[in-house]
Amino acid sequence: MPEPFTVLVMAAGRGTRMHSELPKVLHPVCGKPMVEWVIDAACDAGAGHVVCITRPGDGVAEGLPDTVTVAEQTEGEGTGAAILAAREASGAVGTVVILSGDHPLLSGELIAELVARHGHEGAAATILTTEELDPTGYGRIVRGAGGAVERIVETKHTEGVRPEHLALREINIGTYAFHAPDLFGALEEVGTEHGERYLTGVFPVISAAGRRVAAYATSDPSSAMGVNDRADLMAVDSRAQRRLLERHARNGVTVMGADSIRVDADVPIGQDTTLWPGVTIRGRTSVGSSCEIGPHSTISDSVLGNGVAVRHSFLDGAVVQDGATLGPFAYLRPGARIGQGAKIGAFVEVKNSEIGAGTKVPHLSYIGDADIGENTNIGAGNITANYDGQNKHRTTIGRGVKTSVDTAFVAPVRVGDGAYTGAGSVITEDVPDGALGMARTRQINIEGYAQRKGEKPE
Ligand code: UD1
Ligand code: CA
Repeated sequence: MPEPFTVLVMAAGRGTRMHSELPKVLHPVCGKPMVEWVIDAACDAGAGHVVCITRPGDGVAEGLPDTVTVAEQTEGEGTGAAILAAREASGAVGTVVILSGDHPLLSGELIAELVARHGHEGAAATILTTEELDPTGYGRIVRGAGGAVERIVETKHTEGVRPEHLALREINIGTYAFHAPDLFGALEEVGTEHGERYLTGVFPVISAAGRRVAAYATSDPSSAMGVNDRADLMAVDSRAQRRLLERHARNGVTVMGADSIRVDADVPIGQDTTLWPGVTIRGRTSVGSSCEIGPHSTISDSVLGNGVAVRHSFLDGAVVQDGATLGPFAYLRPGARIGQGAKIGAFVEVKNSEIGAGTKVPHLSYIGDADIGENTNIGAGNITANYDGQNKHRTTIGRGVKTSVDTAFVAPVRVGDGAYTGAGSVITEDVPDGALGMARTRQINIEGYAQRKGEKPE
């Protein structure tokens, strides 16, 4: 068993280059805030204790799991100030791993490799580096004789940076393993540059004390990608999306037209499901097996069973049972519960309603606050008038009911099992089981009307 280690996640930066009201680390990558990706990676790597460094009132702490300790950076700017703010909370005496909240694609595997390498080398610090990215703006690794790291030259501000340092390709990706006493001891001696206390200032101090600084280079560019501005965010997000879709594809999902498909992190999709172009699946959604999703559908916070078909539709907060078909152009709103094998067809909106198994609502309807039994057929253009201007009321329609076209149900109202409604009816009173509810004025034909009009030409 490897020794337990503490992880400090730096997430208290101002993120000025994002030009955003939202703290940088809360910007989502495939629907999940960056900082959560980093914390998940720390947990995957087997961290014993995770501390996240935030600013008071920035809202970052709110979404974190209870197992994460929050340390507030109340004073000072820069990554060094961030780590000092976590000193007490970390309680670390052995190995402490530092991660940057703006490198969301770093994998738990790579963190574990870094920790193993650090233990093996017996160094005071081991820095994760790469030569696989465009080094612009990153800290460059300056190695001395024997390959040990002398220092890191920051290039966010390039004035005064020597050309030979700008030519270095090996960069610091802001992920480190330290022996805790070396880290905190050195940090106290680091001054400020450009108004910030740089964490990277510790390396010359550690080296000067005769302690070794090692580097571990990764060839995985995705893991290394950082986010400083929204162009970086675009790049990281599309890389993450591609990786996610590839993982689904390897697990048995057919993904057609991947460039136009978006699936959030942590959405499970069953095998033999096909995603067609223009599909977006967001939030706390799960999709069963053998479903046909798309083309062009958006599904948020919904649960889909097996064998469900969704075409050109929009779902938000819906639950759809096995074998149901939706669309084209269906709109399911929160609380829509669609039974097994049911059909919700073209231009149909369903909200806060239960649609029974095998029931069909095929055309041009609004079903809100209703409970519809099994194997009922709703005619074209049926509307539940659920709102009286003040309150919402429920409509109850039994099983095996056949409603004719253009029926309006003025709720609260109940239609019994096996009942019928006549075309164009406005149903304001309950319809008993097996009855036909008719509620429209009788037709009158005015004989000779055209002829009479003809007598008085306009
Ligand atoms: C930092 C490194 C640089 C490295 C790069 C990798 C330093 C001085 N430089 O630069 O060598 O190549 O990361 O991406 O460390 N943060 C705080 N409190 C602060 C400032 C920052 O918690 O006061 C957090 C940020 O939220 C972010 C991380 O620290 O998650 C890195 O900060 P950032 O300002 O992006 O550092 P870089 O300029 O990218
Ligand atoms: Ca950064």
